[in-house]
Amino acid sequence: MPQVSRKGNILPASAIRKLVPFADAAKARGIKIHHLNIGQPDIETPKGAIDVLRKAPMDIVAYTNSAGNLSYRKKLCEYYAKHNIHITPDEIIVTNGGSEALQFAFTICCNPGDEVLIPEPYYTNYNSFAILSDAVIKTIPSSIKSGFALPPIEEFEKALTSRTKAIMICNPNNPTGYLYTKEELKSLAEIAKKHDLFLFADEVYREFCYDGRKHFSVMELEDISQNVILLDSVSKRYSACGARVGTIISKNKDIMSAAMRMAQARLCPPYFGQIFAEAAVDTPKEYFDSVAAEYDKRRKTLVEAVNAIEGCYCPMPTGAFYTMIEMPIDDSDKFCKWLLEEFNYNGETVMLAPATGFYSDPEKGRKQARITYCLKIEDLKAAVKCLEEALKVYPGRTK
Ligand SMILES: Cc1ncc(COP(=O)(O)O)c(C=O)c1O
Repeated sequence: MPQVSRKGNILPASAIRKLVPFADAAKARGIKIHHLNIGQPDIETPKGAIDVLRKAPMDIVAYTNSAGNLSYRKKLCEYYAKHNIHITPDEIIVTNGGSEALQFAFTICCNPGDEVLIPEPYYTNYNSFAILSDAVIKTIPSSIKSGFALPPIEEFEKALTSRTKAIMICNPNNPTGYLYTKEELKSLAEIAKKHDLFLFADEVYREFCYDGRKHFSVMELEDISQNVILLDSVSKRYSACGARVGTIISKNKDIMSAAMRMAQARLCPPYFGQIFAEAAVDTPKEYFDSVAAEYDKRRKTLVEAVNAIEGCYCPMPTGAFYTMIEMPIDDSDKFCKWLLEEFNYNGETVMLAPATGFYSDPEKGRKQARITYCLKIEDLKAAVKCLEEALKVYPGRTK
């Protein structure tokens, strides 16, 4: 029988989705599941953009330009200018979600064996993009005690080798919910500049910042424009994960030329998604203000409720809509599976993403899980109640 390739064999299942079959089985048994495992917001997509989509020309659903529609890229320049990011349409390629933008960045920048430094825990799907481009992820540990702030910059310096090619930063961070400061980004930029490294920045949660904090983009850094690659997406910004529209942005012409050739190979980004995303740029500020206020309430509700459970701890996130929680358990993978297979509280249970998949060494995530607060407050409260009751009876409880 023909064999699957080495890469085909080693591609990991997503830490966020690998327990889905157990969730499906629980649902089939009539159990209600509170999904704290996946960043699928229940916030409504902006109506104005949906209305434009409804009126989209449908006589021929055609290919678009490989770089994305020019009208959309021009509109994106307006969006970014409002965020103090000044770019031109030829510095943008529209992708099939932020995921494809990430794949482009890894493929274009990394030779086999090249190393990408990432603070951990980190977004689990970076592993797959690294494997596809034969790159190696090297992690720099951040700690739950400091709310997952950027590790000391010396740790990055110590991790440098002749194979280091890039630093990857996700800001605000998934899975930790940490919003990096301007100073932290400047310190990363200094190393990138000094050692000729790419600085990849995944800013798909740019709009989600709390307590009056402002997001600072890598595109605002001075003197480093040739090193910086911005990866972005409309998925979370407009609660439009199914639109499948992202972007890769750089002022480095070689990067954009390579990205364009990759874009041509996969032909084009989605026709309907781009029509939606272009219209979505006109979403009024009030939409974002009300979404941010809602997430802020959810964030406080969730963190307070989790920290009230004996033996649990989670830091207050400053961005995105996730946080990591530490629990009194033997093994996060076992616990999360047990929640779906063996536990229910009045016919309900909760699904978490085991943190083992967010660390290079699964041991570091054994007692942690990532949770999201992209659900309504009543659902969050019910979900945390399930967690509290579950921890009372879980056979692998540690203290
Ligand atoms: C940190 C991060 N980057 C990138 C993505 C990819 O988003 P999409 O492909 O939906 O644009 C996600 C999705 O959850 C994410 O959390």
